Amino acid sequence: MTNTYHRPPEQRSTAPSGCPVHASWSPLSAEYLADPYPIANELRDEHSVFWSDQLAHLVVTDMSLIEEVFMNPDVYASSNVQDPIAPLCPAARDVLAAPDFDPVAVMSNRQMPDHARIRVFTRQGFGNRRLKTLEDYMRSRATHLLDEMIAHGSPAEFVQSFAFPLPAEIVFRFIGFPPEDDRMIKSWCVNRKAFSWGQPTEAEQVAIAEGMIDYWRYCRDFVASRRDNRADDFTSELLDAWEADPGPDTNPNAETGISYREVESVVYGISFAGHDPVTALMCNTLLCLLPRRDQWQALIDDPSLAANAVEETLRFESSQISWRRVTNVDTTLGGVDIPAGTRLMLNFASANHSPDRFDNPEEFDITRETANRHISFGKGIHFCLGAGLARMEARIALELLAERLPNLRLVDDQSLTYFPNITFRGPNALHVEWS
Ligand code: HEM
Repeated sequence: MTNTYHRPPEQRSTAPSGCPVHASWSPLSAEYLADPYPIANELRDEHSVFWSDQLAHLVVTDMSLIEEVFMNPDVYASSNVQDPIAPLCPAARDVLAAPDFDPVAVMSNRQMPDHARIRVFTRQGFGNRRLKTLEDYMRSRATHLLDEMIAHGSPAEFVQSFAFPLPAEIVFRFIGFPPEDDRMIKSWCVNRKAFSWGQPTEAEQVAIAEGMIDYWRYCRDFVASRRDNRADDFTSELLDAWEADPGPDTNPNAETGISYREVESVVYGISFAGHDPVTALMCNTLLCLLPRRDQWQALIDDPSLAANAVEETLRFESSQISWRRVTNVDTTLGGVDIPAGTRLMLNFASANHSPDRFDNPEEFDITRETANRHISFGKGIHFCLGAGLARMEARIALELLAERLPNLRLVDDQSLTYFPNITFRGPNALHVEWS
């Protein structure tokens, strides 16, 4: 198995024999994109594991089985999590064949034992000291964006005025990218959702591939500039670690250290992981809270409820409703025999609404004591590194909104649209008003 960052599938997987098959369900259907939960619940009640003909993946709907998959990385590899879900067209493949486009799998898609070797350094980078520094920056940027939104007057489009710029800027400052490059970097990262988790047209595939190459080159130049000129940021910390122990750069079988290419690739991978799902989480929190005026009022009366309101949103209307794995060996899951090489889609939407795990799962309740038992950040060795950062960003945003705009409401009769993809979920636009 190679450690290439993106490996477009050569061909579709086929159904394991004897496995229940669903011929028509597609996570990209208009109905599922508009509201996945009623359908996901039905799918889970019918089968805990089934084959989706449309997606050509084995779908796991049951929380315990999803946990079993996450906790057995030797059996269920994460090497496919950044891959396009369907084969790419030849023109896009040609673009990606550029000889200098060579990021390597480093975190979510890297396997043991290398994953553990690299994660040591990245985990350090997400430590409390940096989160504290970012918290101050975040409060000031959030306040600034909110001031601007309020100054422009009601109504406002929340994604463009607040939820998109804020998490992007936070993760770019975390990495160390200069603020003057924000607009350019955002334009490169935004299409990654279509590339790996959607079904872009051939023309879109080519445009996205070109953006990915531009972004990779930018990341490499940025890391090179930091190599000569360190600052107080995550990239500089990774470079310090590389200098102290370049591991695979000197010995391909090294058990410690981090290589220079791995440093470049962490920078490349983290910018998308670090902002798109947080944008969606901020929107989903408002979508859940604002129509339920009693719960919004409870939050205004007691801002300490904000953290649990974010947790309940991650359970009830998560910004990430699936993730993937591929079997390394023949195995059995939920009574279904699965050959090696089978691709799996783990359905968080059905698991997070499971009545076995949550009382009244269809009720949104910001005081729910078990809200944080959702699976939205994964589990086990790949558990989301940015969970603390994402939680902090969404909580601070909510605290500020409740304090500054207590009579914030959703604009009536807006029809929400969602970017067609199998994993990330948040509205493309969200119109809010206040008086
Ligand atoms: C609401 C926001 C977010 C959600 C729902 C989310 C969800 C996830 C999920 C499901 C995984 C895979 C877990 C697994 O395979 O077990 C993951 C991994 C990861 N996430 Fe997040 N994430 C969010 C925000 C962030 C942020 C803000 C960052 C960084 C700034 C980040 C960085 C990462 C990284 C580096 C990994 C790979 C970790 C590893 O493989 O060791 N995420 N995330």
